[in-house]
This record gives sequence, structure tokens and C-alpha cells, in this order.
Amino acid sequence: MDDAPGTGAVSTDGLRERLDFVVGAAARAASIHNTQPWRFQVRDDAIEVLADRDRQLRVADPHGRELAISCGAAIYNAKLAIRMLGHGVDVELLAEPHEPDVLARLSVSGRLAPTGEERRLFAAIPHRHTHRGAFTTVEVPRDVLVAVQEAAAAEGGVLHLVERPGARHALSELVVAADRVQRADRAIQAEVAAWTVPPQEDRSDGVPPYAYASERAGPEPVAFPIRDFNIGRGWGSEEPAEAGQDSHPVVVLTTPGDQPVDWLIAGQALQHMLLLAATRWIFAALYSQPLELPDIRVLVRDEIATPHFPQMVLRLGHSPISLTTPRRTVAEVIDKGWPEEAEETSPQTGG
Ligand SMILES: Cc1cc2nc3c(=O)[nH]c(=O)nc-3n(C[C@H](O)[C@H](O)[C@H](O)COP(=O)(O)O)c2cc1C
Repeated sequence: MDDAPGTGAVSTDGLRERLDFVVGAAARAASIHNTQPWRFQVRDDAIEVLADRDRQLRVADPHGRELAISCGAAIYNAKLAIRMLGHGVDVELLAEPHEPDVLARLSVSGRLAPTGEERRLFAAIPHRHTHRGAFTTVEVPRDVLVAVQEAAAAEGGVLHLVERPGARHALSELVVAADRVQRADRAIQAEVAAWTVPPQEDRSDGVPPYAYASERAGPEPVAFPIRDFNIGRGWGSEEPAEAGQDSHPVVVLTTPGDQPVDWLIAGQALQHMLLLAATRWIFAALYSQPLELPDIRVLVRDEIATPHFPQMVLRLGHSPISLTTPRRTVAEVIDKGWPEEAEETSPQTGG
């Protein structure tokens, strides 16, 4: 499909043809509990990313912070996919003051070949995943940590490396404390139950049993317990990390502000960081339990001694294998608004 003559812009038809490709990539983004709380539509020659509030976690995420981070992650992948199509892209966040659920407008501009770095990041989309089991003993190289920090900064985030043993220990205690509070909270547990998929059930959202371990490992408690998706049901089938196996780098992603626009920035920073790490087969265990509890979130902020707002705690490590989780189809997340016969299928990015 040709671009609109003379303007350097892509015609609406051209956009629609490419929409499946872009949305297929966007939908591979990380999202809280794999809720995939997004929708996509084309309007005025731009691709819009919308919040799907029906998929918001009302208990763990009453203000929609984690929903926005998830959508920010999808925005980053969409941006990268447009670059793969050989176009420039402008991202406008919360462009419609009267439509707060229109989270981003991605306007496609003239021809601009993707860089080698963008190609590598895009190639990591299919194998990037959240890693909840044991990592290998392969160390995360210093240059990767620095590059991950730069990836966060490129999107407007600030990544803190938690290297001081005292700070790391304190952070571990906050994760453990939050985990304990949430395990005793029936409403939280019900939400986890609603977004975890029973073995043998085929679902295109939620966290499947192969993505987490059934039991906490070993007699010693681990320093950074992953969120309890198992909730006593014995469903999880991943090999759990044992105490002493979680001495990997811990980082905290923050943003200077704590408004919806900052959460969208955090999501883009998160996805850029995760993809950058995944280019080196380094993946992340994510810990948002301490950030879902306002009192504990303040303590996380104190521990890393920042005026900024913590948006995600991550532990990074190497794994030679990648178990990716399902996604809804492109057709399920696009509000097309044009006749079916005008559609054409494009390659999907999936894993
Ligand atoms: C805002 C946000 C918060 C998350 N919090 C956690 C968490 O606390 N624990 C966890 O194990 N994974 C967490 N995740 C990871 C999601 O569960 C994961 O992205 C989702 O299940 C899809 O799987 P994938 O990342 O392997 O593609 C979070 C992801 C996002 C975007």
C-alpha cells in the first residue's frame, strides 16, 4: 500500500493494512496478571491505544496505575512495530482531555528506516517473558545493567540499581511484608484467582500454571518471593527458585511524577528495559506487591532515597529458556470500524 502522495504521511488505508502487524506486537507486552487491558483503534490517520477498564484490577489497582503501566508497555511495542514498518512515529499521551481512556495517539510519519538497535529490540518481543522460576548462575553483565538503565531513561523513567546490601535487604523485607499482607487479603486473593488459569483450561488471558511455581522452594524463605499465583491450589508447574538463588540484581523503576501520564511513561520504560534485557536472554521477575500497598510504597521510596515515585521492582537474571503466555487475538482487541472485507491479514508477532 502506497503512502499518501506528497505529504510523507501514511494513508488511512495503509495504516489499516498494517494495523494487525502493529497490534500483534503491542499485545505481546507485559500486563498486570496478563489482563491485557487495552484496545486499539484507528482515528484520523493515527493508531490510538485505549484503556479497557473492564480489565482493571479493582482491588489491587483501584486508581488504574498498573493498567496504565500495562498499556504503556503496549504503546512501546506498537511504537517499535511502526518503526519496523520503516516509518517515523510520534506518540502523544492523553491527547484527548475529554476522553481519558484514549491513552495514546501514535501518528505515523514519513519513511525512516529502523536502526539496528530497534531491530534487535523488536526481535526480542516473541521471547521476552516474565520469569518467576530459578535463573541460571550466569551473571548479569554490568554493561547490560547500564544499558537497561539507559533504556528506562530514553522513555522518561529513572532506574535505580539497588546495590547497597542494606538497601537490598530492606527492599526484600518490604516485598516479604507486602506479600504477607496480600496473602491474608481475601479480596486480593479472589482477584488473583480470577486471573489465573486452571490446568487444562485454554484461555487467552490470565496467568497460566506453567508460568509460576506451585510451592515456595526449600526450607529457607527466599529473599524476593514472587507473587503467590498458586494460592494453595498446587497448579503452578514452574521450577521454583530456592533461597540463595535470588542474589541477582534488583532494580526499581521510578518516575518523577505519579499521574496517569507518568504511569504511561513507566510502562514504556518498563517494556523498553525488558526488551533490551531480553536481547541478551536476560529476563525479569516483577514485584509489584509492595507498590500496591500505599504505606509500603512510601517505604520503598525511602529505601532507594529518591524524590521520585516507584513504579516497579524487578530482579534480573539469565535463562536459556522462554515460556511465553497466551494473548487474545488481534481481532479481539481492535475496534476497527470498517467493513470486514476491507481487511487483510498481516504477520503476527507472537511467541
Ligand atoms: C504493571 C505490572 C505489574 C506486574 N506485577 C507483577 C507481579 O507483581 N508479579 C509477577 O510475577 N508478575 C507481575 N507482572 C508481570 C505480568 O504478570 C506478566 O507481564 C503477564 O502475566 C504476561 O506475561 P509475560 O510478561 O510473560 O508476557 C506485572 C506486569 C505489569 C505490566
